Amino acid sequence: MTGGAPAPEPLGIGLVGCGGFAEFVLDAAAGLPGLRLAAVADPSRERAERLGGSHGVPALGSLDELLGREDVAAVLIATPPATHAAMAVAALRAGRHVFCEKPLATTTADAAAVAEEARRAGRALVVDHVLRYNPLLRAVARLTEEGLLAPPRRFLFENDAADQDLGPDHWFWDRAHSGGIFVEHGVHFFDAARALIGSDPLSVRATAASRPGGGPVDMVSADVLHPGGVLASHLHSFTHAHRAERQLMRLDHGFAETRITGWIPVHGEISAWVDDSGAELWERLPARATELLAVDGFTPHGGERIAVRVERNAGSAAPARGRGEERTVPHQVRAVLDLGGEPRKPYVYAQSVRAALADLVRSAREGTRPVAAAAAGLSAVAVAEAATIAADTGTEQAVPRGRTGA
Ligand SMILES: NC(=O)c1ccc[n+]([C@@H]2O[C@H](COP(=O)([O-])OP(=O)(O)OC[C@H]3O[C@@H](n4cnc5c(N)ncnc54)[C@H](O)[C@@H]3O)[C@@H](O)[C@H]2O)c1
Repeated sequence: MTGGAPAPEPLGIGLVGCGGFAEFVLDAAAGLPGLRLAAVADPSRERAERLGGSHGVPALGSLDELLGREDVAAVLIATPPATHAAMAVAALRAGRHVFCEKPLATTTADAAAVAEEARRAGRALVVDHVLRYNPLLRAVARLTEEGLLAPPRRFLFENDAADQDLGPDHWFWDRAHSGGIFVEHGVHFFDAARALIGSDPLSVRATAASRPGGGPVDMVSADVLHPGGVLASHLHSFTHAHRAERQLMRLDHGFAETRITGWIPVHGEISAWVDDSGAELWERLPARATELLAVDGFTPHGGERIAVRVERNAGSAAPARGRGEERTVPHQVRAVLDLGGEPRKPYVYAQSVRAALADLVRSAREGTRPVAAAAAGLSAVAVAEAATIAADTGTEQAVPRGRTGA
């Protein structure tokens, strides 16, 4: 007897959809404890064989073939969005756990059907909402939980994204395949806003603009109202060269502001007005950087840092008031949360995907609830679909309540 329980069998995962992102996900997953790639599948034989060959696993032609294998206990869905819901339901009905690329579905009804099937089947389902596994956003959420930051009363995301690799025939532009920009891409940020604000949205107004000369809709904006007078604005503009891509997430916490850059957040700056005890709490943050930036399954590169500077008595000691709230906050905090900036984006992106996969392994093995569970996928699709209809019709849309899995 050597003592100790034997390590559990790794979770065998079969990947369907051997396109560009599948390659990235499999590279990110390499060597992840508890997970083993069993097979890949794609109707394009050439793509399946290329990806299967580079990972040393069988190349199959379809999801059905994956589900026919006993060594496939979980399915990783990396096909275009309109196929996700039916594939997720089929995999769950076949008793498999599911890691689904975003969006969970292209309609709220389909997303609700997947969430219901996951519940019924009692299988783990993780949606690859990578922002949920980002250390910087996790730190902001922790600072909010601890009360150093008030919950945001305003969320803004400005996304000057690249269309450089999105040729006119790409499925991204075809709503029948992608669900449109709010659904295909916006879900990341509807979900992030829900997590940071801490509530499900009530209603949405939205606008869409098309490329000049009769091109596709390439710019969309939505104003989403959350309970308690909290307003979130989301703008996505797929109109840039890669080198001109830029993003800003801004959170207004009243007496504090957070600014985060990178669509994969890599650098954040917080400014806050605080009292004496607040100043002391903020000054302790650099020593707590590891704990504040920790995400299960995400291996830090070692260069992450939190720096804090407090200017005492930068403002007067007289009470200050905003939105009816009065505070005596004479000191000004400037904090930097840095994951290495733009050069570290690929690393942070890959580690976030890895952490999401680690969440699937943990949930499948221990029955824990994943961070980006079906409810998160459903809620994000519900806002995205409401925003799409709002832009189409020029009307305010209620976000379906009771269907957002809150
Ligand atoms: N989480 C993220 O940050 C992130 C980033 C990029 C893409 N994505 C998502 O990943 C998914 C794939 O995107 P991509 O850029 O790799 O697309 P892609 O077009 O490069 O690849 C899609 C692959 O799916 C295959 N496919 C299509 N229908 C299929 C079917 N019925 N059965 C099996 N295979 C099928 C295609 O042959 C193709 O190989 C999309 O849902 C996209 O939104 C997520």
